[in-house]
Amino acid sequence: RMPALAQCYNLLDFESVAREVMKNTAWAYYSSGADDEITMRENHTAFHKVWFRPRILVDVEKVDFSTTMLGSKTSVPFYITATALGKLGHPEGEVVLTKAAHNHEVIQMIPTLASCSFDEIVDARKGEQVQWLQLYVNKDRAITKRIVQHAEKRGCKALFITVDAPQLGRREKDMRVKFSDTGSNVQASGGDSIDRSQGAARAISSFIDPSLSWKDIPWFLSITKMPIILKGVQCVEDVLRAVEAGVQGVVLSNHGGRQLDFARSGIEILAEVMPVLRERGWENKIEIFIDGGIRRGTDIIKALCLGAKGVGIGRPFLYAMSAYGQEGVERAFQLLKDELEMNMRLIGAATIDDLKPSMVDTRGLVGG
Ligand code: FNR
Repeated sequence: RMPALAQCYNLLDFESVAREVMKNTAWAYYSSGADDEITMRENHTAFHKVWFRPRILVDVEKVDFSTTMLGSKTSVPFYITATALGKLGHPEGEVVLTKAAHNHEVIQMIPTLASCSFDEIVDARKGEQVQWLQLYVNKDRAITKRIVQHAEKRGCKALFITVDAPQLGRREKDMRVKFSDTGSNVQASGGDSIDRSQGAARAISSFIDPSLSWKDIPWFLSITKMPIILKGVQCVEDVLRAVEAGVQGVVLSNHGGRQLDFARSGIEILAEVMPVLRERGWENKIEIFIDGGIRRGTDIIKALCLGAKGVGIGRPFLYAMSAYGQEGVERAFQLLKDELEMNMRLIGAATIDDLKPSMVDTRGLVGG
């Protein structure tokens, strides 16, 4: 029997429920990581290496964790990151996330490989709600250009180009279950001959261009006025190169452990990146985001102390949606808001600006 929604007390609870109630194929696609899933596990456990140095006697009667990301206001320092194939988990797919995001003023990143069409997800947007586009770059640049310019015309506020997936990682859990139906708009995304024997991931990704390189960045900057963010940057050298290339942001991410196994966690990379940016006085030239394994308000606070502008969260919202629909996603948002409020109080920070590197002890991180 499925536990009542009120019995989910944190984001990890949604995962346990989803594992029980989801269809095998969907669970395998959402939960899998690359190879031995070492990076996938490390993403969350890396946060256990960071400890707090709270400040006392700070007036924290009112706590405000609203912020801006890439020029857009948001009620929280986290966003829904792009995850493909929403209809595997819920018959209405990504629009469930859109509706929940509206009610909580959370930014949503729309995946290239959504199950719903791009326009359906944009049409579900209400009022001032903010959406971004995640882009897998097609070998046919005319298709890519059309997707980008259409997104800008339809009001998307930023373009996240995924740069950690020249080839989709090998996710064996996903490969083992017989994949039959993605319920997806993959034809529209340019997915041509679909090979269903290799799991959902392989089946939908054949159009992605492995020749994408730094040389392409000026072209992207020339075809859109949306801020451009590279999603999947993994070391400080590439962050510096991204600044030089003139992009507005990077996501330090290993794609939720689904690509290169033994890639480092986002928080680890952040600890490597920020001191170098500060040393050069470049910390305001680019917005730094991280994703992967973020499950607790304290995880978010740690990332912000170190200098992240915001964090992306993927699987927990998929699990909440799959198990409980929109209500589940909204409860997940509320739980994170409650955790943020309480833990900012306890660390002695009334606003996001009060979160400082001196409030965390990162000596346990390699890059710390
Ligand atoms: C993803 N991710 C992803 N990223 C991307 O750029 N394009 C995509 O289509 C997808 N699809 C996708 C599907 C599923 C099921 C998952 C779990 C993840 C990666 C995603 O944006 C993000 O990097 C991770 O999900 C963050 O890790 P957590 O929060 O899931 O641990």
